[in-house]
Amino acid sequence: VSAHDLVVAIDGPSGSGKSTVARRVAAALGLRYLDTGAMYRAVTWWALEQDVDLADVERVAQLARELPLQQGLDPADPTVAVGGIDIAAAIRSSRISAAVSAVATNLGVRAELVARQQAVARAGGVVVEGRDITTVVAPDAPVRVLLTADEQVRLSRRALEVHGSADASAVDATRDQVVRRDADDATVASFHEAADGVDVVDSSLLSLDETVAAVLKLVEARTGVR
Ligand code: DC
Repeated sequence: VSAHDLVVAIDGPSGSGKSTVARRVAAALGLRYLDTGAMYRAVTWWALEQDVDLADVERVAQLARELPLQQGLDPADPTVAVGGIDIAAAIRSSRISAAVSAVATNLGVRAELVARQQAVARAGGVVVEGRDITTVVAPDAPVRVLLTADEQVRLSRRALEVHGSADASAVDATRDQVVRRDADDATVASFHEAADGVDVVDSSLLSLDETVAAVLKLVEARTGVR
């Protein structure tokens, strides 16, 4: 494999640091970066914008098929827009985070978004990050990584990200959301255990730099690309 058509698939639960790691790996290798979680968030944003009941699975799946999504794949500046409206910040709101599992568990939505993700992966030269990339979207990718971290570590990281602090009350406020979301998400994509041939990187005791280095080492070991 040359770096030009390399596909690196990275899965992991919330707070595993996979978005940051995936971006850094893509930048280091000169690859594009696809954040698939942002796609589920974009459908959620669009449905709420149009007052669509998320329990109406047919309607929401139809919206996903019609979604005029523009996603920028530059790891230095990953943009997300729907119909020309920049939603990069809006899709990170707690309103979207609380609602997105209802959309991510919609099988019609998944079929549509997986197809779009596979089109990007097929073109190659990309790091794709999500929950079902190593298993469903790109099971043949030459590099497949499951990024994990102990629950306590994941909660602290997420609390720091969302509340700007990882003290006890911030971690408590985060626990409910993260644990429930992972439980809901796990019903459609199993990302707590590595599938056959998937390399596990446990970042619990690693810094961000060390985690990125560990993934780059796997890329080199599996493909010779460095
Ligand atoms: O990684 P994230 O928090 O932005 O993901 C948003 C939601 O989408 C989360 O509930 C998990 C879900 N998701 C998914 O089911 N499959 C993916 N490939 C990516 C995200």
